[in-house]
Amino acid sequence: MPKDWIKKRKREHYYRKAKKAKYRSRAAYKLLQAVKRYRFMKPGDVVVDLGAAPGGWTQASRKIVGSKGFVLGVDLKQVEPFNSSNVKTLIGDIRKPEVAQQIRGFLPCLANVVISDVAQNVSGVWELDHSRQIDLATHSLRIATLVLRPKGSFFVKTFHGGMLDDFMKLVRQHFAHTKRVKPKASRAKSSESYVLGTKFE
Ligand SMILES: C[S@@+](CC[C@H](N)C(=O)[O-])C[C@H]1O[C@@H](n2cnc3c(N)ncnc32)[C@H](O)[C@@H]1O
Repeated sequence: MPKDWIKKRKREHYYRKAKKAKYRSRAAYKLLQAVKRYRFMKPGDVVVDLGAAPGGWTQASRKIVGSKGFVLGVDLKQVEPFNSSNVKTLIGDIRKPEVAQQIRGFLPCLANVVISDVAQNVSGVWELDHSRQIDLATHSLRIATLVLRPKGSFFVKTFHGGMLDDFMKLVRQHFAHTKRVKPKASRAKSSESYVLGTKFE
């Protein structure tokens, strides 16, 4: 069977699945698969979702944390509101120093988990896109260190490239365990992968 055909079918599979389950993005499955495998989010958790629009990860997080948890979605763009009292959204640029404080103001307590799918539109210039993504991941890490409680978890999007090892080293300075994660729902062809840090210290 031609490889491209298989990949296209996989893409359509998650697209259809997300549509049927009423997730706002197929990306919801990347988070759900990672949590299923590594169990870094659980019922009752307080979650900060950076780069939340259109809201697929926020919905998936709400499903996991349940009615006793809390989810805050942050994005440059307005995220369509959710019909759930324990899900809030905030318009903000994660590169701005004051955003961490604004996030803290929304949370009922320090967060158990910070997830970040933040990404800009890709330029097609591989090195530029890689360094921009690492820059955004570094801002996400900075926010995580300011809003997470001890032993909390951090899950962030990165693109492969020369700066990834240094970024992993930075994550290791704050988390006892780190791991590179490529969920099945993430396109094999894409240079995207995620970094998971657990046991914030
Ligand atoms: C791939 S989308 C996230 C998809 C989301 N996880 C979902 O499941 O619906 C990336 C998001 O990052 C946001 N973003 C990019 N740069 C940002 C920044 N500096 N601060 C906050 N959000 C940003 C974009 O507006 C975009 O909505």
